[in-house]
Amino acid sequence: MNAHTDALVVEHLVKEYRVHRTVFRAVDDVSFRISRGSTFGLVGESGSGKSTIARCALNLIEPTSGFSLIDGEDPARLRSRALRRLRARTGIVFQNPKAALNPRLRIRDSIAEPLRTHTSLTSTEVGERVASLLDEVGLSMTHADRLPHQLSGGQAQRAGVARAIATEPELVVLDEPTSALDVSVQAQVLNLLQRLKGERGLSYLLISHDLDVVRYMSDEAGVMRQGRMVESGRADVVLTAPSHEYTQQLLAAMPATPGAAASIPGGEERSILL
Ligand SMILES: Nc1ncnc2c1ncn2[C@@H]1O[C@H](COP(=O)(O)OP(=O)(O)O)[C@@H](O)[C@H]1O
Ligand SMILES: [Mg+2]
Repeated sequence: MNAHTDALVVEHLVKEYRVHRTVFRAVDDVSFRISRGSTFGLVGESGSGKSTIARCALNLIEPTSGFSLIDGEDPARLRSRALRRLRARTGIVFQNPKAALNPRLRIRDSIAEPLRTHTSLTSTEVGERVASLLDEVGLSMTHADRLPHQLSGGQAQRAGVARAIATEPELVVLDEPTSALDVSVQAQVLNLLQRLKGERGLSYLLISHDLDVVRYMSDEAGVMRQGRMVESGRADVVLTAPSHEYTQQLLAAMPATPGAAASIPGGEERSILL
């Protein structure tokens, strides 16, 4: 890891999908960067291109043009071994934790899988790492032998987080990490993510259609509309006093926050739906 490079740089990213004979531009010239240890929130309506940006940035799909740099390295230019090594330095947390985990694998094996693939740890060391990861995300060994369907949504997402950070990545994509969860456990998972970020010095690309979630979590934010980033900057500015008309409309369309406040470790209070 290079202390002076950004965790993620996305430059002039374009992604077109071919649908029958037409070309649909899902991401249209998007650029942003995430400095080390900070969170960049991507907000916007469903279909505005948020997940496509994340997939292109990690090179899970090929951009039509533009590029990304993960810790200074362009994944599109790496050969398979170096690419696998770079992938191990990134993690993804998905919206639907039960669908993201293999339904036939016990939780301990889902968390162990990236360790077996990407590290040369012995099976004893893998077992120890899994135990400490479970502890770190607030699960106990009793959860380790369960299958995903035997966990609650919140527990399954904790397991998804443990899997995403298993190889000790520096950059983690959170793609709607709490959208599928009951409102009562959303804040718990967000607070877990905030704690892990502090403890591990993680950088997050947070994707959410929920402006409260992005405002609570992010240092900087970008607002997506139909494939374009219409506004970006400091999250508190963009999401409380936006200069762009579309962001103002998004904010106005939000249901009023019912005065609920979650305290963030560190004492600062910000408004968030609980
Ligand atoms: N594989 C694909 N083929 C064709 N169109 C796609 C594909 N993936 C996504 N899209 C389209 O691209 C647009 C952006 O999708 P997506 O990035 O998933 O948006 P978001 O994550 O903001 O909801 C949507 O209109 C979606 O239907
Ligand atoms: Mg999406």
